[in-house]
Formats: sequence, structure tokens, C-alpha cells
Amino acid sequence: MSTTETANGAAGAGAAVPQVPAGADGQEADLAVTASALGYAPGVLARLDADIAEIIARYPVGHERSALIPMLHLIQSVDGYVSPAGIALCADRLALTRSEVSAVATFYSQFRRHPAGRYHVGVCTNALCAVMGGDEVWQAVADHTGLGSDETSEDGTISLERLECNAACDYAPVVMVNWEFFDRQTPASAVALVEALERGEDVTPTRGPETVPTFRENERLLAGFEDGRAQEGPGAGQPSLQGLGLARSQGWTAPRETSEEDSK
Ligand code: FES
Repeated sequence: MSTTETANGAAGAGAAVPQVPAGADGQEADLAVTASALGYAPGVLARLDADIAEIIARYPVGHERSALIPMLHLIQSVDGYVSPAGIALCADRLALTRSEVSAVATFYSQFRRHPAGRYHVGVCTNALCAVMGGDEVWQAVADHTGLGSDETSEDGTISLERLECNAACDYAPVVMVNWEFFDRQTPASAVALVEALERGEDVTPTRGPETVPTFRENERLLAGFEDGRAQEGPGAGQPSLQGLGLARSQGWTAPRETSEEDSK
């Protein structure tokens, strides 16, 4: 088999990045064995490998391991979380150990360890959002869904997470759905948002695309595969641009970096 996994599960090094089979009997046979070992159906694995090859090709030779983060997003776009099969696949294709892949996947909070819902709802309860009512928003959504943090509804529609700052403090308290912003929420507006998602209705973020893509769709975007929606909806809001406007009105500019040549 082309994977470097041994029978007892230890991962070896030196795996080449396999290409999508061209149809030769030997390649198809290898793919079937690899797919079975990793837990993916051959067709799914072929598509994953084509995408993985495209991701890895974005990085300079010798720095292929930098592809791990977008590869983990790609795994989430297929499995809904960083699955054991996905960890094994990333490890194999990047000649890493599964422990190394898991270490990255568990460090970054965007990577899920359990299947996320079609709509992953994150409520920020960090300092600024908390003082602006984030805890009340969280409690209202948790009460409405009956979910705790990192839990998913039985029908797979909603998963819930307490978030540690969405980098949108100027719009506190903030809720995110599949990483799209819903600014200045109240307990009532957040519950209404979740109710709309539960009814299968499209919802419009305060900033970003006109409707919220599914969790898996946005994960594919985060893997670097454009969805053609980058120009939809408003981008930066007025509170975020306030400092820029003030600087321009006062004629303030950032200090220039001085080189040794300049200081002579
Ligand atoms: S504290 Fe909530 S977005 Fe920063």
C-alpha cells in the first residue's frame, strides 16, 4: 500500500504525494488499498488527493508541510470535522506522524474534533463581548438549543461553541455562523437567528456574503478554493474604519522603515 502506516498504526516518513490515478490497473489497485486503510471511499479519496495536490503546489518545494492548515480545512469540508481518517491522510501525504497532525489540529480552535452542524454557531463570551452582554446571548442560545459548547444537535443542523474573541470587538457582542459575522447581538436577535437556521431559511450576515454558506462550503473556501462570493455584501464596517478616517483627517501616517542607507 502507498501509505506509510504500519500494521500497528505507527506512521513512517518519506511518503510521496500520490497523484489522482490515471486509470492504470496498478494505480487503481493501490488507491483502493489506500482508501480502505484510510477510511475513504476510492472516489472521495481521488477528489481529496486532487485538491491536496493543488494545495501543496501553492508552497515552495521543501516547504510542503506549510500546506497542513488548508489541508485540515479541506478535510473539514468533506468530513465536517478533522476525522481520524483525515488526520491519517494528511500525515501520509505530508510525511508527518499522525501525532504531529493532531498537535496542529488541536491547537487551532477552528478545527473541530467532532462533526460540526450544518451551521456552526459561535457566541463570543470574551471580555469585550461579555461586558456588552455576550454571556446573556450565550445563555439564551444554549437554553434555546439545549446544547452546550462543542455540542451538535441530533439532526446535525446546529452546533454551538463559546468563542474566545472573533476579532470583531468593535461590534460586540458578536455571534458567528460558519465564521460569518452577526454584529451587536441581543439574546432575542441571536435566538431568532438560530430559529431561522433551524427552519432552513437563508440568513444574511452583517458583513460578508449575502447568505451564510454551510459549514462545509466555508471550510472549502478556507482551504483556498474560491467560491466567487468575495465581493458580496459589505466588507469592513464604519467602527473598524474610524481610526483610519481620523488618521487621514489629521494627516497621520505610519513611520517609515529606515534602512542603513537612509541613515547615512
Ligand atoms: S471580545 Fe468578542 S469579538 Fe473580541
